[in-house]
Amino acid sequence: MTIVSPATPVRLDLAERSYDIHVGAGLLARTGELARPLLKLPHLFVVADETVAGLHYDPLAASLDGAGISHHLYRVPSGEGSKSFARLEDLLSAILDTRPERSTALLALGGGVVGDLTGFAAAILLRGVPFLQIPTTLLSQVDSSVGGKTGINMKQGKNLVGSFHQPRLVLADIDLLSTLPRRELASGYAEVVKYGLIDDPDFFAWLEAHGPALLAGDAEARAAAVRHSCQAKARIVAGDEREAGNRALLNLGHTFGHALEAETGFSTALYHGESVALGSLMAFDLSVRLGLCPAADLDRVRAHFAATGLPTRLPALAGGWRVERFFEHFTHDKKVDAGRLTFILARGIGRSFVSRDVPQDILGAVLADWAAEAAR
Ligand SMILES: NC(=O)c1ccc[n+]([C@@H]2O[C@H](COP(=O)([O-])OP(=O)(O)OC[C@H]3O[C@@H](n4cnc5c(N)ncnc54)[C@H](O)[C@@H]3O)[C@@H](O)[C@H]2O)c1
Repeated sequence: MTIVSPATPVRLDLAERSYDIHVGAGLLARTGELARPLLKLPHLFVVADETVAGLHYDPLAASLDGAGISHHLYRVPSGEGSKSFARLEDLLSAILDTRPERSTALLALGGGVVGDLTGFAAAILLRGVPFLQIPTTLLSQVDSSVGGKTGINMKQGKNLVGSFHQPRLVLADIDLLSTLPRRELASGYAEVVKYGLIDDPDFFAWLEAHGPALLAGDAEARAAAVRHSCQAKARIVAGDEREAGNRALLNLGHTFGHALEAETGFSTALYHGESVALGSLMAFDLSVRLGLCPAADLDRVRAHFAATGLPTRLPALAGGWRVERFFEHFTHDKKVDAGRLTFILARGIGRSFVSRDVPQDILGAVLADWAAEAAR
């Protein structure tokens, strides 16, 4: 399989809410030129992760100045804690102080945290204003910046308050990944692998060959993988914007993964993508034990994660992992449907499907084995 990254943008087709996703090097410096035709007012309210602002705001500001776009900058403290009501209120208030109009656009510069927060602010400010995304982590370039899911966390769980609000433009500049810490990069890579596992076995094979180089800094491989991932996400979202059907496949590894994140207190013990990687392995393990998936496919996925620096076993947890705690987290999952748990299972690599009737005894046995392995 040849995976390349031509200059043409990926298009997400959603009738009047369609938009372009540009992928490549040097895009930050072209923001003004690419954004200007989409703006009614030559102004942008930039919401930036404070770490990212320190590293990358100056070239963005120069590009906006060059295109005659004035700009405000609002810095968001780095970290998941910023997806909160308190931060949302402060942000909305800061925007309102600038006397925005319905055509005032927001621009998110940062990872998934800033993208989700800014998108939600855009969805509810003046009953909806446009927003643009410049995702700066691998995870946000291949996943969160595309598709229009926005939101914040509540004490009851992650992403429980939010809305669907599509951006007008996404600029995935792969140069920005050069400042991303290695562990963040690998964590985002788990979401890249997810597209191969869902329905694209050739992409998974391509990643087996090119993933290590991509993580080591190969720009061509990065651009090709980000573009291919955005194409996959755009195709799935265009077919099912509100997750009534196939969009749920993007949650592969996430039912388990969210439980892992919740149990480790959303701490640095496990990054989001690391939880998704472990959750994907658990979903494949469950599929093998249900007689759906060849064990060799589970081994292949595990070997690829190990080769790219992703975890393949649960970290040790003070007090140990407890099966009943997993079930508690599962029942809080947004995907619970009429009381039934939803899992994405697989008949093999690239052959995932949605299941709502997983036998609880086999699920419990899988969890018990993973918990026991972590304790060894
Ligand atoms: N909306 C969706 O569809 C969707 C999909 C997947 C995940 N998410 C959400 O995305 C969030 C996770 O996103 P994330 O992994 O991007 O985390 P993040 O936004 O917290 O960024 C991770 C860290 O990397 C730093 N960083 C970002 N870009 C950098 C760069 N270029 N150089 C150096 N440091 C940089 C940030 O300061 C932060 O510390 C979660 O809240 C998750 O719920 C949303």
